[in-house]
Amino acid sequence: MVDFDTETNLDLIARYRNAGFEAVADGVMDFFDRRTDLHSKGRSFESDGLLDPEGPAKVSTDISLVSIDHSDPEAFALSEVIIRGVKSALDKYIQERKLFLACCPEKALFVNPIFNIQRYAPGEGFKSWHCDWTISNDATEPINRVLAWILYCNDIDSAGTEFLWQELHEPAERGKIIIFPAGLSHIHRGRVNLKQSKTIATGWINAGNLDSYISRLASNK
Ligand SMILES: [Fe+2]
Repeated sequence: MVDFDTETNLDLIARYRNAGFEAVADGVMDFFDRRTDLHSKGRSFESDGLLDPEGPAKVSTDISLVSIDHSDPEAFALSEVIIRGVKSALDKYIQERKLFLACCPEKALFVNPIFNIQRYAPGEGFKSWHCDWTISNDATEPINRVLAWILYCNDIDSAGTEFLWQELHEPAERGKIIIFPAGLSHIHRGRVNLKQSKTIATGWINAGNLDSYISRLASNK
């Protein structure tokens, strides 16, 4: 049963925290510090190939993770616990917003197993306003993105995520997962801190079924 009064009062930016998420955040920090072999220069799908006079849209150091890739046991184990945490947050999100899933294509959503850990050094950030939905051709199937998620891995003063039309600054707090719509209604950017570095894990929640997505990934190899 849908309780319209309860549902319409809900914000579409939701935040979830518990001791388990804090432990996962600590695991991400430790993994990122140690596994410098996996570091790569951050890229954003939105800014690829564009020459912006104000500089790159996103400056960061990233680790890309795939929670179905067993080739690196440590990376696999960490990505599994991250995805499990995001799934539990997503379960709550859709329990609280029954119409959200009911109106979704195929009435199904899944946490995309491909995602990133990003570290922004002091002065770095995803500085330009953007949304997480694009129509580019990528293995993550960005056209199917419905929601985005961020796990903040450290507490950092005034360097969270700014949402333009919601006039909201979501602070970066260790162990907090936020889930929000990937589309144009939730244009956002990272707030930059000039003194401290910020680490997050972030990815997407797509419409459809995980098993069919994994079969498409396998057939495109
Ligand atoms: Fe984003």
